[in-house]
Amino acid sequence: MKKIVVFLGAPGAGKGTAAAAVAASTGARHVSTGAMLRDAVSRGTPAGLEAKSYMDAGALVPDEVLYKMVVETLVGAPDGATLFFDGFPRNLAQAEALAPLAKEGGAEVAGAICLDVAKDALLARLGGRRTCPKCGAGYHVLSLPPKVEGKCDVCGSDLAVRDDDKPETIAHRLEIYESATAPVIGFYEKAGALRRIDASGSAAEVADLVLKALKEMV
Ligand code: AP5
Repeated sequence: MKKIVVFLGAPGAGKGTAAAAVAASTGARHVSTGAMLRDAVSRGTPAGLEAKSYMDAGALVPDEVLYKMVVETLVGAPDGATLFFDGFPRNLAQAEALAPLAKEGGAEVAGAICLDVAKDALLARLGGRRTCPKCGAGYHVLSLPPKVEGKCDVCGSDLAVRDDDKPETIAHRLEIYESATAPVIGFYEKAGALRRIDASGSAAEVADLVLKALKEMV
């Protein structure tokens, strides 16, 4: 059986950073629906063409687009794999759909980890984020700078600011988070499957806390 651990938290809370670090040290798979959608947009696939206008506006992409991606990802994962879901589920409908989708892909949800960060820190993290458009590696101008300014440590490509990290789009993403995604925290809390983490510390400290929470889940 494959296991899913859901990473929850506001835009900029550090879900991607923590999930990637802990996946690298445990052999789990980091599944970022945002990264998958950005890849689909850059390749101009039908899902990407449908998703682009929603993403540019900071809105949620229609659930059906995500469900297909989730099942394909689960079916493609080997038996026994642990998958860190970063960005899914993102509303209550997706949270309710996840158990049946998981079953279809031979998986079950082991639990959810929520990264708690204050709003001023979220804004500082999003404002300084740089990403590699080629390999997806993530950086921050202050807390996680690349070795050579503006260049990816992994593949040497020029780093970019994400299209949805403009101030007006960030504001809308935070509103959508409060109205649509924050209720998902209560969904897992009610099921007794939620661990909350104070994610205000450094990336290394947060990764340590996630690793501890994970040991009680999988
Ligand atoms: P997505 O890519 O999932 O964006 P998000 O949830 O808004 O989250 P972010 O990627 O912005 O933040 P993060 O928490 O991963 O932070 P990160 O680790 O990068 O989704 C993008 C869009 O896709 C959505 O708006 C939507 O349109 C669509 N979408 C995706 N999934 C969907 C779904 N299920 N349904 C519908 N639509 C969907 O960190 C941020 C910065 O902070 C980085 O620079 C990092 O270096 C830095 N940092 C991280 N941790 C720390 C730390 N501990 N200390 C200091 N700096 C840190």
